[in-house]
Amino acid sequence: MKIAIGSDHAGFRLKNEVTRRLRESGIHEIIDLGTDNAEISVDYPVYAFRVADIVSRSQADCGILICGTGIGMSIAANKVRNIRAANVWDVTTATLAAKHNNANVLTIGGRLMAPERAIELIDAWLTTPFETRHQARLDLISGIEQGKTIQE
Ligand code: RB5
Repeated sequence: MKIAIGSDHAGFRLKNEVTRRLRESGIHEIIDLGTDNAEISVDYPVYAFRVADIVSRSQADCGILICGTGIGMSIAANKVRNIRAANVWDVTTATLAAKHNNANVLTIGGRLMAPERAIELIDAWLTTPFETRHQARLDLISGIEQGKTIQE
């Protein structure tokens, strides 16, 4: 899979570790869209947009975004059309983000998670298929992007 990855300064160390391990696996192509160090404070929406945009335009299969908590990255990435970003913190939430939400971007809290757990949940997300019975709900979300209202 072609995976775009990005972080702010708070997520930089975990991004480096995750990128290294995913590259070592030899299975995935990783596109690292920055940031490049933990010392200079940067704005997470910049990196959220870089990753979300490339996924939205199908230039990557999916994306991983890491900030301090993963929350800011998910809020920003979900503003981009076609993006379903899920802030996850364990294998259960990562698996459900794939199964139920077909999340195409995973967001992680770099200040809150050990690299081992991050790799474990990324593996779970990448290998769990979407359950198509949930497609109608995703279509409702796409409808919101297109300006449609939802009738109850
Ligand atoms: C940066 O200090 C921090 O606010 C950011 O990494 C992130 O956690 C925001 O959601």
